Formats: sequence, C-alpha cells, structure tokens
Amino acid sequence: MDKEAKEKARERVAEIASEHYKRGDVMGWFEALYKESAGNNEMIPWADLEPNRFFHKWAEATGLKGEGRNALVVGCGLGDDAKFLHDLGFKVTAFDISPTAIEWAERLHADRDIAFATADLFKPPAAWLGAFDFVLEIYTIQPLPIEMRDNVMDAIAGFVGPSGTLVVVTRGREDDDETDLLPWPVSREELRLFEKSGLRQTDFRIMPGDEGEPDRFVVEYRRG
Ligand SMILES: C[S@@+](CC[C@H](N)C(=O)[O-])C[C@H]1O[C@@H](n2cnc3c(N)ncnc32)[C@H](O)[C@@H]1O
Repeated sequence: MDKEAKEKARERVAEIASEHYKRGDVMGWFEALYKESAGNNEMIPWADLEPNRFFHKWAEATGLKGEGRNALVVGCGLGDDAKFLHDLGFKVTAFDISPTAIEWAERLHADRDIAFATADLFKPPAAWLGAFDFVLEIYTIQPLPIEMRDNVMDAIAGFVGPSGTLVVVTRGREDDDETDLLPWPVSREELRLFEKSGLRQTDFRIMPGDEGEPDRFVVEYRRG
C-alpha cells in the first residue's frame, strides 16, 4: 500500500474510532472499519496481505519452526500471519473480534487448513485457556485503550500453555514518553505486566519502524 493510501486509511480510522469512543464503545470500530472497506484492503492501514515484516525477520533470525505444535494468533485481522505460521508447520487457530475480518481471512486462505474463529479476547472459548504451544500477538494491544492494557495482556498470557511461548510485536515507546494518539505504543514497563501473568521474558528486540514511525518491539516470553 502506498504512503498516501495508508495516510487516508489512518484518517478514516481516526474518524470511525472517535465516533465509537463518543458512544463509549472502544472495540466496535474494528468491525465497522472492516465492513466499510467492503473488501478493499487499502482502507485497512495494517492489512498489507503479507506476514508482518518484523515478525518475519524475527522468525528467520530464530529459525522458528512449527513441527506440528499448535499456535494461536490473537486479533488476526486478514490472517496473513496465521498463514505464515501454518506454512512454518504449526497447526493454527486464529481469531478476531470482527466477523467481517474472519470471513475475509477465510476467503483469502481457503487453501490452507487454518481454524479461523470470531471471538472476543475477553470472552474466549474455555478450551483455549492454557492450551497453546505458541501464541502470536501483533498490534492488538496498541489500539485498545491504555487503561485496559493489564486486562488485555493478562487475557493474552492466559492462552499460553504450560511450557508455551508468546511472541508480541508492537509499536514501542520509552517508559516516560507521553502517548496521546491511537494506536498507543507499548512501553517496556507495561510489558512487565506479562510477567505478572506468569510469563518470563526470554528475548527482546528493537527493530526500526518505517520512516516517521516508531520502532517496533519484538518480544518473546515463555511459561515455565
Ligand atoms: C491493528 S489490528 C492488527 C491486525 C493483525 N494482527 C495485523 O497485524 O494485521 C488489531 C486487530 O485486533 C482485533 N481486535 C480488537 N479487539 C479485539 C478483541 N477484544 N478480541 C479479538 N480481536 C480484537 C481487531 O478487529 C483487529 O483486527
């Protein structure tokens, strides 16, 4: 997607999100955006129909392989990271709160055996709790209100199995940086909330963002 299209898409996101926030609805704008885009991914700023390039780099550097392990993709959007994990040999479940995103992902990846599901991170199926060898979270923490951060992170940690791994890709910020515009980057101090949820940090990388964008943190946690 070119820079101008992305800028236009971000302006529309700000408008739709603000309309929903005024009604006290902090999550409804995702479905409204996917619906309004009517199948045009250029209206979704994060949907470039490719696996996330920071996660791709991390996976290459660490030699990530699925070897039949089960993986969960949180807030999967159009499912390109789910497809990437599938092709690395994981058995993949991927979910999003937006039914339109999930239908779209199912259409895009109909040739892969990926279990896509519409689900809310805060009300997941009980069978998912503590059930996954590998959990991938890309950009779901940052567009949810900062006041919800500990609940969001605790819910994500809850999917990681007894000796499982979580990888988080997020816009990063310094602990004392102010942040006022959606999406709100995540600080190292906030990331410690994952440790409160029983995980330990095993890898932390900073990768430069695109021009004018914040650096990304790519962080690995393990349970046990
Ligand atoms: C910024 S997008 C990132 C999508 C995808 N991970 C990517 O990188 O392309 C955040 C995604 O999280 C989803 N989401 C937001 N709140 C959620 C919730 N409570 N439960 C599940 N998904 C949620 C949105 O619908 C959206 O697809």
